[in-house]
Amino acid sequence: MASSPLPSSSVDHGRADSQPTTTAEPSKDPIPSSSAAQQHSTSGPASAAASPPAAASPGLTSGTVTQGVIEPDVTPADDSASDADSGVGSDSQSILTSLASTITNYVYKNGRRYAGFREGNYILPNDELECDRHDLLQHIYRMLFGGELLFAPIGDNPQRMLDIGTGTGIWAMDLADMYPSAEVIGTDLSPIQPKWVPPNLQFEIDDAESEWTYQPDTFDFIHFQNLTGAIRNWPKLLSQIYTHLKPGGWVEAKEADVIAQSDTGSIPAESALRRWETNCIHAGNLIGLQLESARKLKQWMEEAGFVDVVDREYKLPSNPWPKDEEMKLLGRYQHAQYMDALQAFALGLLVDVLGWTREEMEVFLVDLRKDLSNRRFHAFHVMYVLFYLPTCFLLMLTKP
Ligand SMILES: C[S@@+](CC[C@H](N)C(=O)[O-])C[C@H]1O[C@@H](n2cnc3c(N)ncnc32)[C@H](O)[C@@H]1O
Repeated sequence: MASSPLPSSSVDHGRADSQPTTTAEPSKDPIPSSSAAQQHSTSGPASAAASPPAAASPGLTSGTVTQGVIEPDVTPADDSASDADSGVGSDSQSILTSLASTITNYVYKNGRRYAGFREGNYILPNDELECDRHDLLQHIYRMLFGGELLFAPIGDNPQRMLDIGTGTGIWAMDLADMYPSAEVIGTDLSPIQPKWVPPNLQFEIDDAESEWTYQPDTFDFIHFQNLTGAIRNWPKLLSQIYTHLKPGGWVEAKEADVIAQSDTGSIPAESALRRWETNCIHAGNLIGLQLESARKLKQWMEEAGFVDVVDREYKLPSNPWPKDEEMKLLGRYQHAQYMDALQAFALGLLVDVLGWTREEMEVFLVDLRKDLSNRRFHAFHVMYVLFYLPTCFLLMLTKP
């Protein structure tokens, strides 16, 4: 819910009215190979403090790949996730650069700005603070994934690709740069994408939960990430993805688990963090949102007709508690973005759905912030990466 060294793109990618930053060239070979595995195990922070998820076999072997235990930093530290030991400031505003937006089709509530299209469908705002948080998340993911933009072995010559719920479009822009001969489409409820984008990329305002107007069997690759809390009917969405993939096309999902985990049992059951998770999940259920969707995706994918090729599970630390320097930096970024996400989620779920007063919410968030900053909680969120093929294609491949 709250969910690279820094990745190829920068936080300030020029949203809305400026030229997007040209990215350093990302890997041209998304095929999970043994060399990709090597990269994970040697340079990627996902692998730095624990055994990394191994790379998928280029053969279609299925399985789940998870990280080992992350070693905590046991040197004395206060519980405020102090950033005095790094170049990263504790004030997330110092990380999240505000960018101007020229688009005005919005509604305003609780001092935040929300999508006007399908008003009320999506609980989170779309203002600059939220957009900057998306961009920081994209950095976090690239860092967590050892620099990889995508994992599915889509080959060198995909023709047509779709990114659902593209947000600020930062991921789709990197994809379009990576495959200049492919047509890339990014869809979202909010017009928060930049004007200046790669020529092979177009953004469309669309509700992914409505009936799709694309022709069936037309996409080589359909991607979504971080749509937990956005999608109400996952089986229907996955069914539409299935219908619109070409035979042999790939779907790739990257979603973070909403429930923090700890390998050391360090999160008390009565903590504000646990109460937060319980209340958010309850509120989500009341409005038809399954916030635990990340851990259910695999099953839903299979029920939609996809076959499990590989799913990977990455651990994203909640603050700089790990000993390893790169994991510590990841935790620092994740802490900054989660702190910025709290108010938006709390307004949408605790206040609007559960009926808490603003004062009750603010008092609760004080305790929650303390928990999220507590380095004695060795908390992490699992990031699930799934890339699947439609079953029908595998059946074609295996026909005698
Ligand atoms: C948390 S953001 C993730 C954005 C992007 N995928 C990323 O990883 O940076 C979720 C996005 O989904 C969009 N969204 C929510 N419901 C949607 C829907 N039904 N159809 C299309 N986009 C939707 C929101 O407007 C928001 O930009």
